[in-house]
Amino acid sequence: MEVFEAISQRRSIRRFKTEDVDESLIEKIIKSGVWAPSAGNLQSWELILVKNAQTREKLSEAAYLREFIAKAPMVMIPCVNLRVSGGVYGKRGAELYSLQDVSCAVENMLLMAHAMGLGACWVGAFNEQQVIELLEIPDHIRPVALIPMGYPDEKPYPPPRRDLEDLLHFERY
Ligand SMILES: Cc1cc2nc3c(=O)[nH]c(=O)nc-3n(C[C@H](O)[C@H](O)[C@H](O)COP(=O)(O)O)c2cc1C
Repeated sequence: MEVFEAISQRRSIRRFKTEDVDESLIEKIIKSGVWAPSAGNLQSWELILVKNAQTREKLSEAAYLREFIAKAPMVMIPCVNLRVSGGVYGKRGAELYSLQDVSCAVENMLLMAHAMGLGACWVGAFNEQQVIELLEIPDHIRPVALIPMGYPDEKPYPPPRRDLEDLLHFERY
Protein backbone atom coordinates (compact mmCIF):
# COMPACT_ATOMS: atom_id res chain seq x y z
CA MET A 1 0.00 0.00 0.00
CA GLU A 2 1.32 3.42 -0.99
CA VAL A 3 2.11 5.68 2.02
CA PHE A 4 -0.34 8.51 1.30
CA GLU A 5 -3.06 5.98 0.52
CA ALA A 6 -2.50 4.30 3.92
CA ILE A 7 -2.47 7.67 5.70
CA SER A 8 -5.58 9.06 4.04
CA GLN A 9 -7.63 5.86 4.09
CA ARG A 10 -6.94 4.87 7.70
CA ARG A 11 -10.07 5.44 9.80
CA SER A 12 -10.87 5.18 13.47
CA ILE A 13 -12.67 1.85 13.78
CA ARG A 14 -15.21 1.37 16.56
CA ARG A 15 -16.84 -1.89 15.51
CA PHE A 16 -14.84 -5.11 15.34
CA LYS A 17 -15.27 -8.73 14.29
CA THR A 18 -14.71 -11.19 17.13
CA GLU A 19 -11.85 -12.93 15.25
CA ASP A 20 -8.48 -12.87 17.05
CA VAL A 21 -5.51 -11.07 15.54
CA ASP A 22 -2.62 -13.32 14.53
CA GLU A 23 0.49 -13.01 16.77
CA SER A 24 2.73 -12.36 13.75
CA LEU A 25 0.62 -9.34 12.77
CA ILE A 26 0.70 -7.99 16.33
CA GLU A 27 4.48 -8.29 16.36
CA LYS A 28 4.77 -6.45 13.03
CA ILE A 29 2.53 -3.66 14.33
CA ILE A 30 4.61 -3.22 17.47
CA LYS A 31 7.84 -3.27 15.45
CA SER A 32 6.38 -0.45 13.33
CA GLY A 33 6.02 1.52 16.56
CA VAL A 34 9.60 0.79 17.52
CA TRP A 35 10.82 2.27 14.20
CA ALA A 36 9.15 5.62 14.92
CA PRO A 37 11.36 8.65 15.51
CA SER A 38 11.93 9.66 19.13
CA ALA A 39 13.78 12.44 20.92
CA GLY A 40 17.43 11.41 21.27
CA ASN A 41 16.29 7.96 20.06
CA LEU A 42 15.31 7.28 23.68
CA GLN A 43 12.02 5.56 22.69
CA SER A 44 10.50 6.58 25.98
CA TRP A 45 7.33 4.53 25.62
CA GLU A 46 6.06 1.10 26.58
CA LEU A 47 3.03 -0.94 25.62
CA ILE A 48 0.59 -3.09 27.57
CA LEU A 49 -1.31 -5.62 25.49
CA VAL A 50 -4.63 -6.85 26.88
CA LYS A 51 -6.59 -9.76 25.43
CA ASN A 52 -8.34 -11.02 28.58
CA ALA A 53 -12.11 -10.47 28.18
CA GLN A 54 -12.70 -9.44 31.80
CA THR A 55 -9.90 -6.90 31.68
CA ARG A 56 -11.25 -5.52 28.38
CA GLU A 57 -14.63 -5.15 30.03
CA LYS A 58 -13.06 -3.19 32.89
CA LEU A 59 -11.11 -1.03 30.43
CA SER A 60 -14.38 -0.22 28.69
CA GLU A 61 -15.84 0.81 32.07
CA ALA A 62 -12.80 3.03 32.68
CA ALA A 63 -13.50 4.62 29.29
CA TYR A 64 -17.01 5.64 30.37
CA LEU A 65 -18.67 2.51 28.98
CA ARG A 66 -17.36 2.69 25.44
CA GLU A 67 -18.44 -0.86 24.63
CA PHE A 68 -16.36 -1.24 21.51
CA ILE A 69 -13.31 -1.47 23.77
CA ALA A 70 -14.63 -4.64 25.38
CA LYS A 71 -15.73 -6.03 22.01
CA ALA A 72 -12.36 -5.68 20.27
CA PRO A 73 -10.28 -8.86 20.53
CA MET A 74 -7.35 -6.91 21.93
CA VAL A 75 -6.56 -3.53 23.44
CA MET A 76 -3.17 -1.84 23.33
CA ILE A 77 -2.34 0.62 26.09
CA PRO A 78 0.61 2.80 25.02
CA CYS A 79 2.34 4.41 28.00
CA VAL A 80 5.14 6.87 28.55
CA ASN A 81 8.00 6.08 30.87
CA LEU A 82 8.54 9.43 32.60
CA ARG A 83 12.03 8.48 33.75
CA VAL A 84 13.50 7.85 30.30
CA SER A 85 13.21 11.14 28.37
CA GLY A 86 12.73 13.04 31.66
CA GLY A 87 16.02 11.59 32.92
CA VAL A 88 17.94 13.07 29.98
CA TYR A 89 15.98 16.18 29.04
CA GLY A 90 14.33 17.08 32.38
CA LYS A 91 10.89 18.71 32.38
CA ARG A 92 10.79 19.08 28.58
CA GLY A 93 11.63 15.40 28.17
CA ALA A 94 9.05 14.22 30.70
CA GLU A 95 6.24 16.56 29.67
CA LEU A 96 6.77 16.98 25.94
CA TYR A 97 9.23 14.64 24.24
CA SER A 98 7.88 11.48 25.85
CA LEU A 99 4.34 12.30 24.66
CA GLN A 100 5.67 13.08 21.20
CA ASP A 101 7.66 9.80 21.18
CA VAL A 102 4.61 7.73 22.05
CA SER A 103 2.37 9.60 19.61
CA CYS A 104 4.79 8.94 16.74
CA ALA A 105 4.89 5.26 17.71
CA VAL A 106 1.11 4.99 17.94
CA GLU A 107 0.56 6.60 14.55
CA ASN A 108 3.02 4.15 12.99
CA MET A 109 1.13 1.28 14.63
CA LEU A 110 -2.27 2.59 13.49
CA LEU A 111 -1.01 2.88 9.92
CA MET A 112 0.62 -0.56 9.94
CA ALA A 113 -2.56 -2.10 11.37
CA HIS A 114 -4.60 -0.44 8.63
CA ALA A 115 -2.18 -1.56 5.91
CA MET A 116 -2.59 -5.16 7.10
CA GLY A 117 -6.40 -5.02 7.04
CA LEU A 118 -6.90 -4.32 10.75
CA GLY A 119 -8.68 -1.42 12.39
CA ALA A 120 -8.15 0.50 15.61
CA CYS A 121 -9.17 3.65 17.43
CA TRP A 122 -7.17 5.98 19.68
CA VAL A 123 -9.33 6.47 22.79
CA GLY A 124 -8.12 9.30 24.96
CA ALA A 125 -11.21 9.73 27.14
CA PHE A 126 -10.71 7.37 30.06
CA ASN A 127 -10.27 7.50 33.81
CA GLU A 128 -6.49 7.32 34.14
CA GLN A 129 -6.50 6.28 37.80
CA GLN A 130 -8.88 3.40 37.11
CA VAL A 131 -6.63 2.11 34.33
CA ILE A 132 -3.52 2.51 36.49
CA GLU A 133 -5.06 0.42 39.26
CA LEU A 134 -6.55 -2.18 36.94
CA LEU A 135 -3.27 -2.79 35.08
CA GLU A 136 -1.00 -2.32 38.12
CA ILE A 137 0.94 0.45 36.40
CA PRO A 138 3.82 1.87 38.50
CA ASP A 139 4.24 5.58 39.35
CA HIS A 140 6.79 6.44 36.66
CA ILE A 141 4.61 5.04 33.87
CA ARG A 142 1.65 6.98 32.44
CA PRO A 143 -0.97 5.35 30.21
CA VAL A 144 -1.82 7.76 27.40
CA ALA A 145 -4.48 5.96 25.37
CA LEU A 146 -6.58 2.85 25.03
CA ILE A 147 -6.36 1.40 21.53
CA PRO A 148 -8.86 -1.35 20.77
CA MET A 149 -7.73 -3.25 17.68
CA GLY A 150 -9.11 -6.03 15.51
CA TYR A 151 -10.64 -6.77 12.14
CA PRO A 152 -13.00 -3.92 11.18
CA ASP A 153 -16.74 -4.59 11.05
CA GLU A 154 -17.54 -1.15 9.63
CA LYS A 155 -16.25 1.16 6.92
CA PRO A 156 -16.71 4.69 8.26
CA TYR A 157 -17.10 7.61 5.91
CA PRO A 158 -13.98 9.82 6.11
CA PRO A 159 -14.53 12.75 8.52
CA PRO A 160 -13.71 16.11 6.89
CA ARG A 161 -10.27 17.65 7.20
CA ARG A 162 -9.29 21.28 7.42
CA ASP A 163 -8.28 23.15 4.29
CA LEU A 164 -4.59 23.91 4.07
CA GLU A 165 -5.37 27.67 4.05
CA ASP A 166 -6.79 27.29 7.59
CA LEU A 167 -3.59 25.96 9.09
CA LEU A 168 -0.69 26.89 6.87
CA HIS A 169 1.31 30.06 7.48
CA PHE A 170 4.03 31.21 5.11
CA GLU A 171 7.25 32.63 6.44
CA ARG A 172 5.64 33.93 9.68
CA TYR A 173 2.48 33.37 11.72
C1 LIG B 1 -5.55 12.28 21.03
C2 LIG B 1 -6.77 11.57 20.48
C3 LIG B 1 -7.81 11.27 21.34
C4 LIG B 1 -8.94 10.60 20.85
N1 LIG B 1 -9.91 10.22 21.74
C5 LIG B 1 -10.98 9.52 21.29
C6 LIG B 1 -11.95 9.03 22.23
O1 LIG B 1 -11.84 9.22 23.43
N2 LIG B 1 -13.00 8.33 21.73
C7 LIG B 1 -13.15 8.06 20.40
O2 LIG B 1 -14.12 7.41 20.01
N3 LIG B 1 -12.23 8.51 19.47
C8 LIG B 1 -11.16 9.23 19.89
N4 LIG B 1 -10.20 9.64 19.01
C9 LIG B 1 -10.36 9.37 17.55
C10 LIG B 1 -10.83 10.63 16.80
O3 LIG B 1 -12.17 10.86 17.09
C11 LIG B 1 -10.60 10.45 15.28
O4 LIG B 1 -9.24 10.25 15.03
C12 LIG B 1 -11.07 11.69 14.48
O5 LIG B 1 -12.47 11.86 14.60
C13 LIG B 1 -10.74 11.56 12.99
O6 LIG B 1 -11.29 10.37 12.47
P1 LIG B 1 -10.35 9.29 11.72
O7 LIG B 1 -9.37 8.78 12.77
O8 LIG B 1 -11.27 8.20 11.25
O9 LIG B 1 -9.66 9.95 10.59
C14 LIG B 1 -9.06 10.29 19.47
C15 LIG B 1 -7.98 10.60 18.62
C16 LIG B 1 -6.84 11.22 19.12
C17 LIG B 1 -5.67 11.48 18.19
